[in-house]
Amino acid sequence: MNGRTVIAAVALATLAGAAQGLRVVAVADEPVEVEVTAETFGCIRDMTPVRHFYVDNLAGDLEATLAVANSPTGGKYPPGSVVQLIPTEVMVKHGEGWNAATRDWEFFELEVSRDGSRIVNRGFADVVNRFGGNCFACHVRARPEWDLICEKDHGCDPVPVSAEQILELQRTDPRCGTAPAEQQ
Ligand code: HEC
Repeated sequence: MNGRTVIAAVALATLAGAAQGLRVVAVADEPVEVEVTAETFGCIRDMTPVRHFYVDNLAGDLEATLAVANSPTGGKYPPGSVVQLIPTEVMVKHGEGWNAATRDWEFFELEVSRDGSRIVNRGFADVVNRFGGNCFACHVRARPEWDLICEKDHGCDPVPVSAEQILELQRTDPRCGTAPAEQQ
């Protein structure tokens, strides 16, 4: 399947980069291309937890993503960063210059099932969630040092979902345990 080939290729590139002590993303002056398809997304709990949300990095630089996510003073998430709070809403950071208005973040609204993920909507300033809320309009209100990441106290309007409901959505992600192909 095409998506698996892409994932395998990324995995190989990551391994090759690691073997040479190189960071895949860190090629000076070259814009980072972050390719995202429905197969990019899997069980939310396979990502790395940070407080009550999850992160990953599609370009093999999870450490750089974690450094910003864990910084008490914020910072700029590196290209390839993936951030999720609930299974159906994702932010992915593209290379520098992709979209200045959204600080290179792309927003995704997914439909998830035991069969995997389907991208219902993706884009920059015009993506709307199932409640009619515009992702960017909310997230842009995070204070500048937080790079459009809202959490609880970065300046965004709150989501109408309780902490318990968020935990439950994470715990019941239908993709978990049903997509072993992604681990290759
Ligand atoms: C009503 C405003 C609002 C809308 C609309 C909204 N969000 Fe959020 N989002 C938030 C808030 C507030 C949080 C933090 C909630 C928490 O930590 O409890 C959040 C959390 C997140 C997170 C986890 C990282 C973070 O910023 O804390 C992601 C990823 C995310 N939202 C993506 C999306 C996407 C994608 C959409 C559209 C499909 C969307 N959001 C729509 C307000 C919003």
